[in-house]
Amino acid sequence: MSALRLLAISGSSRAGSWNRKLVEVAAKAAEARGAQVEPIDLRALELPLYDADLEKASGVPEGARRLRDALRGADGVLLSAPEYNGFPTPLLINSFDWLSRLQPEGDAPSGLAASSGKPLGLFSASPGPLGALRSLNFTRQYLGMTIAMLPVPQQFALSKAAEAFDEAGALKDARQQAAVDAVVASLVRVAAALKAS
Ligand SMILES: Cc1cc2nc3c(=O)[nH]c(=O)nc-3n(C[C@H](O)[C@H](O)[C@H](O)COP(=O)(O)O)c2cc1C
Repeated sequence: MSALRLLAISGSSRAGSWNRKLVEVAAKAAEARGAQVEPIDLRALELPLYDADLEKASGVPEGARRLRDALRGADGVLLSAPEYNGFPTPLLINSFDWLSRLQPEGDAPSGLAASSGKPLGLFSASPGPLGALRSLNFTRQYLGMTIAMLPVPQQFALSKAAEAFDEAGALKDARQQAAVDAVVASLVRVAAALKAS
């Protein structure tokens, strides 16, 4: 079987984002298990705030097609998102809302067909004490229930993120690294089984 292809997504595109650092740690753990990991920057998709009038006037923006095509080519997804007031970020929700508006085009599936059944490993990070755990459960519900992805049961919320990484971007605490590894191991197991089936 060829190497698993995974997408790595951060729900924050902020320079220095803790969530991007955390998903990079997860990506390294997946690469250590033989996967190929491709990062996708949601901000680079340049998706405007969803607006039905805009959609009616000019259709779904190209960025949503880039997300669809990235998902279509992936065997699974690693995703880490911060919380804003206990909820997943507008960047994350808006990107997947636009994806959900894409209808099938030629050989390309609808946005939801591209995301449907895609195994998903979930993470969150915050400088605060709860590690954005409250939003992580909403992210699980949103991406699992309505975007039809397949979140693995394991997840990891990194608290006190501002103190968690060394200068090379690695997690200082071996228990936190083990928690990341557990999510990644589960994702790789499920993605490999689905790819083989
Ligand atoms: C509008 C807003 C609301 C926030 N609400 C929360 C919150 O509910 N819980 C929390 O832990 N952090 C909250 N934060 C702080 C973020 O966790 C912090 O900015 C974090 O660094 C964002 O993730 P990033 O580093 O990946 O960009 C909030 C930040 C903003 C801008």
